[in-house]
Amino acid sequence: MHVDSAILKRRSVRRFDPSHKLTKKECNKILSLAIHSPTAFNIQNWRFVVVEDSALRKKIKAASWDQGQVTDASMLIILCADLKAWEKEPLRYWRSAPEPVQEFIVPAIQQYYTGLDQVQRDEAMRSCGIAAQTLMLAAKSYGYDSCPMDGFDFDTVAEIVNLPHDHAICMFVAIGKALDEPEAIPKDKLPLEEVVIMDRFN
Ligand SMILES: Cc1cc2nc3c(=O)[nH]c(=O)nc-3n(C[C@H](O)[C@H](O)[C@H](O)COP(=O)(O)O)c2cc1C
Repeated sequence: MHVDSAILKRRSVRRFDPSHKLTKKECNKILSLAIHSPTAFNIQNWRFVVVEDSALRKKIKAASWDQGQVTDASMLIILCADLKAWEKEPLRYWRSAPEPVQEFIVPAIQQYYTGLDQVQRDEAMRSCGIAAQTLMLAAKSYGYDSCPMDGFDFDTVAEIVNLPHDHAICMFVAIGKALDEPEAIPKDKLPLEEVVIMDRFN
């Protein structure tokens, strides 16, 4: 499937076939594509919590306005961010770079994030948002559908998955077999003239 088809055919699906299972190989393929998403300074600050345990899924559903996607999708991924990834052995993000690049980039990473909680969080959300779209397009290209989600109680879900104190939850992506044919045409898109600003705002 071409990228433009995957983009245009991706719809947020709410009704998944609860009996459908993705194979381990399919799950790994989708996740393996997601880790090719870009991150600032290549710090790869996303963490993908793949929830397979059905009891945990039920608890998460209860914390998610009872949305059926949480239990019925074949794969439930909670995109979390390690807010401190930037300071955890940053050299490993550049281990194959020439030494002069390493010598420049590692201090640059420290300088960019140190003491700046908002920057750390903003970067984490950017990384996870991009990875979420990669997951959804990868799923579509393998014939599956998805639903991005943030309709849940973040604190409750954090507790359920034992979220480390230096991590934050960004969103869920549910992936599976749609029960209904997703709508073919994206609906209610604002016109380009409204959302594209040339050069600067008035
Ligand atoms: C960050 C984010 C959170 C969302 N949360 C939910 C959600 O909790 N439940 C849901 O059914 N859809 C959710 N959606 C899906 C949106 O409603 C959907 O993307 C939007 O209506 C456009 O439709 P489309 O994705 O089919 O193009 C979410 C989408 C995004 C990007």
